[in-house]
Amino acid sequence: DWTPGNVIADQVDAIRAQVGDARVICGLSGGVDSSVAAALVQKAVGDQLTCVFVDHGLLREGEAEQVEQDFVDATGVQLKVVDARARFLSALAGVSDPETKRKIIGREFIRVFEDAAREVVEDAGAHGDEVKFLVQGTLYPDVVESGGGEGAANIKSHHNVGGLPDDLQFSLVEPLRALFKDEVRAVGLELGVPEVIVWRQPFPGPGLGIRIVGEVTAERLEILRAADAIAREELTRAGLDREIWQCPVVLLGDVRSVGVQGDGRTYGHPIVLRPVSSEDAMTADWTRLPYDVLATISTRITNEVKDVNRVVLDVTSKPPGTIEWE
Ligand code: XMP
Repeated sequence: DWTPGNVIADQVDAIRAQVGDARVICGLSGGVDSSVAAALVQKAVGDQLTCVFVDHGLLREGEAEQVEQDFVDATGVQLKVVDARARFLSALAGVSDPETKRKIIGREFIRVFEDAAREVVEDAGAHGDEVKFLVQGTLYPDVVESGGGEGAANIKSHHNVGGLPDDLQFSLVEPLRALFKDEVRAVGLELGVPEVIVWRQPFPGPGLGIRIVGEVTAERLEILRAADAIAREELTRAGLDREIWQCPVVLLGDVRSVGVQGDGRTYGHPIVLRPVSSEDAMTADWTRLPYDVLATISTRITNEVKDVNRVVLDVTSKPPGTIEWE
């Protein structure tokens, strides 16, 4: 019988058999796959596992805390947090081109993760242990897709942790390899992974860095984070989370338009709402959100977020538009 409990029991045995008493490392992103994979390995081998979370400063409001506090409280995982926010901001300074941003974020992410992994390896070595294994949240569709080559990879450079250097040789532990997304969620819930993580909609690795059209700055990130938090809150309140595949919220950092608020003229940025419905993100349609929900989001964003005086709706399917703007 397929039950989350049976999957967990089988995987715990398999992980113990694979890992023995060696040490294990896992990169956490805040997403469901890496979180559930880490929770499973934690259940199997406890403190032999060290998780690494790179805070690149491009996450949405509350997401770093969900990893650093909620996930740790729920699973008891040993977590090493790397605060790389300043490093990413300076690497991105002056850069507007989408692909350049993606490459910089991917490159910095790998460097920071490698340094952290090296430290974990050295710490373990000082105690006479060796870190031999790296946990990856690979799902069944990823396994199938990588066999055929990833179609979308040529359109935008996707980044995930991979390609570690030669002096960091790990074997992979991939406890989710046989599972589909809905099964991963069921396993995560059974393991006590917080619901906000288990039900998180897809969010790109480069994060808010590719949802600011134009240069990424601390100030723009703050604006976008505030607008995104409002949109998410209202979509959740309206009960639409399961209906929507995801709803990128995008800041047009290089565009300003004239508005009027209170007694004065404003010259602020537009925020774009990009709600989409999809089965697999390869194609998508724009979601026909109720007008009253759109109105509430628009009113709240323009009232509550400084420097935003206009909210627009993206009504483009994929193709021709991609889901993300960059
Ligand atoms: P696009 O914009 O290509 O996005 O239509 C398709 C899906 O992929 C997500 N996405 C990413 N996910 N790393 C990721 O892990 C990335 O670099 C990345 N870029 C886009 C996007 O959110 C959508 O779900």
